[in-house]
Amino acid sequence: MRAIVVEEFGGPEVLKLTEVPEPEPGPGRLSIDVAYAGVNFAELKARSVGYRVASLPYLPGLEVSGRIRALGPGAAESTGLRVGQPVAALIGSGGYAEVALADADTVFALPAGLSLRIAATLPTVLPTAHGLLHRAGRLRAGESVLVHGAAGGVGTAVGQLARLAGAGRILGVVSGAAKVEHALRSGYDEVFVGDEFVDGVGRATEGRGIDLALDSVGGETFRRTLAALAPFGRLVSFGNAGGEPPWQVGQTDLYPGRSVAGFSILQLSQSAPAELRALAEETFALVAAGSVELPVSAELPLSEAAEAHRLIESRTTTGKLLLRVGDDD
Ligand SMILES: NC(=O)c1ccc[n+]([C@@H]2O[C@H](COP(=O)([O-])OP(=O)(O)OC[C@H]3O[C@@H](n4cnc5c(N)ncnc54)[C@H](OP(=O)(O)O)[C@@H]3O)[C@@H](O)[C@H]2O)c1
Repeated sequence: MRAIVVEEFGGPEVLKLTEVPEPEPGPGRLSIDVAYAGVNFAELKARSVGYRVASLPYLPGLEVSGRIRALGPGAAESTGLRVGQPVAALIGSGGYAEVALADADTVFALPAGLSLRIAATLPTVLPTAHGLLHRAGRLRAGESVLVHGAAGGVGTAVGQLARLAGAGRILGVVSGAAKVEHALRSGYDEVFVGDEFVDGVGRATEGRGIDLALDSVGGETFRRTLAALAPFGRLVSFGNAGGEPPWQVGQTDLYPGRSVAGFSILQLSQSAPAELRALAEETFALVAAGSVELPVSAELPLSEAAEAHRLIESRTTTGKLLLRVGDDD
């Protein structure tokens, strides 16, 4: 089968289309004939600096949609999944390929009416957005929310889910004016460009500060976001896109009553797959019902995976990027 393989870490050009043996599912696992693979920021970090990569060669790709090709021993018993069924899956690696392997625990049957194309946009972003707001962030109706990367995949979902949950002011941060319109269409009341958010939050909350902030950038952005919290405000850290050293928080930074939480969908998928399944089922149903939409800003063939990474690195994309791999439904 054809797959994108990384033999050495580096720029997008290290993503090479290669002929590799087809993988066979072991116990509790299954294989999927991939229709589409979602492209994620974490895959750029994996390709460039080896983020979460155990060894080389490495096959990138964290999420796919497609049809079940084969079931390993025990995979059907625990989930009721069957060969030929259309599914979406969150996988550790190997999604940029014609056949992908997945733990049956992190494979999700599609609700009626959900296409494979839309399904590929969901497994990472949507449970993440829901988990950030409602599990780690414990959002209550009427509270204000601030989100970095508001026009990206996660940001696009968070704006809509926060709106559905009855949040108060929903504020977004993006890196360029060209992304503001996309974020405003995704549920945000107001969108700041870069550091504008520091003063903007004060104005938008009449000096009170933010109840719930979601930070995927880290470093100085994390520190400024922490300082922008309301009394008893919560900050959930879920990425380090800026590449600065990991943040640290001292006790007094949290006075008078702030808290900081973390969230990782990949770690949740390994340590608490039932929690992931609950997040996925709740949110996939919202997409099937038309309450949440994840626009695809670019769809490229598998052979152009490098171009997809270049596009995300250019910081001009919004919503989700997809690789088209096999037959559509
Ligand atoms: N913890 C988790 O479970 C989890 C799950 C999914 C994603 N994430 C993280 O969430 C973030 C967004 O992921 P995504 O899938 O939505 O990605 P995406 O659609 O590719 O968007 C990436 C976002 O990151 C921002 N960005 C890119 N390069 C940056 C840089 N050097 N410094 C600061 N911001 C940068 C961009 O926003 P601007 O250009 O507007 O700043 C863009 O909106 C990433 O950091 C990713 O690792 C975490």
